[in-house]
Amino acid sequence: MTSSPLPPDLYCVMGNPVGHSRSPAIHARFAELTGERLRYERRLIALDGFAQGVRDFVAEGGRGCNITVPFKFEAQALATTCSDRVRLSGAANVLSFASDGSIYADNTDGLGLVADITRNADVPLAGRDVLLVGAGGAAAGVLGPLLLAGARHITVANRTLAKAQALVQSHAALASLQKSELVALTPQALEANFDVIINATASSLAGAEVPVPASVLRPGCLAYDMMYGPAAQGFLDWARQHGAVPRDGLGMLVEQAAEAFLLWRGVRPPSAQVLQEMQQAL
Ligand code: ATR
Repeated sequence: MTSSPLPPDLYCVMGNPVGHSRSPAIHARFAELTGERLRYERRLIALDGFAQGVRDFVAEGGRGCNITVPFKFEAQALATTCSDRVRLSGAANVLSFASDGSIYADNTDGLGLVADITRNADVPLAGRDVLLVGAGGAAAGVLGPLLLAGARHITVANRTLAKAQALVQSHAALASLQKSELVALTPQALEANFDVIINATASSLAGAEVPVPASVLRPGCLAYDMMYGPAAQGFLDWARQHGAVPRDGLGMLVEQAAEAFLLWRGVRPPSAQVLQEMQQAL
């Protein structure tokens, strides 16, 4: 008698909206290239239904999920254990469900950003001066890994200064441990220029002006937008016009997915190859 094969392990991305997410395509390709047997779905979750959405998914046998807007803070609150990165940023983009019912949360956004800058773009962060623009959830998720990557100085610039100050305060101990200088400013108060500028605001999405003056760009510096596609275009055009090297967040997306895949499956997928394929397809 032949037994039927076990169904593939189930994963998903939860968000609202979630239709735009490229995570299903990325994880399907990772699975194909590594030979891992898994199915990865996209799940639209009601704005007031995150905890129920997670319970339903676990009841169906779900092994892990990625979390996108606006649930990254709720995901952190739902977890039973979490990484230091989650504790520091207060937000999670990956959940892993164990058979004893426990939920582990991690945040791989910052690892993805650092990997894309240092490995894919081949721009070192150690000893460099970095400007992080924005102080919302996206900025909070990457500040810890930027400090751990050895940046010499990080300025967090935000329209609402109090939010930048709060982010600097919550990361002050890590900055001191890393011997990095960490300061909060309004965009108007920026006087220095930087080796790496990272846009973590939603300004391009809103069609607004780039929220910092071009004087922040050192000649030939890397100007990185954590968005990709049309949402990043305004910032990338501005960077190119002012002599910077522009880069969008597609590589960050692929690399954060690779870190999640590694956490779930114990196998590191060939992320550089998948990024190259996606860049060619666009
Ligand atoms: P996310 O999770 O994507 O970071 P968020 O937590 O709402 O979203 O944060 C959005 C960030 O983009 C904030 O830093 C916000 O600035 P404020 O804290 O002053 O609101 C920034 N932002 C959004 N639109 C902007 C604009 N038009 N100009 C400058 N900054 C903007």
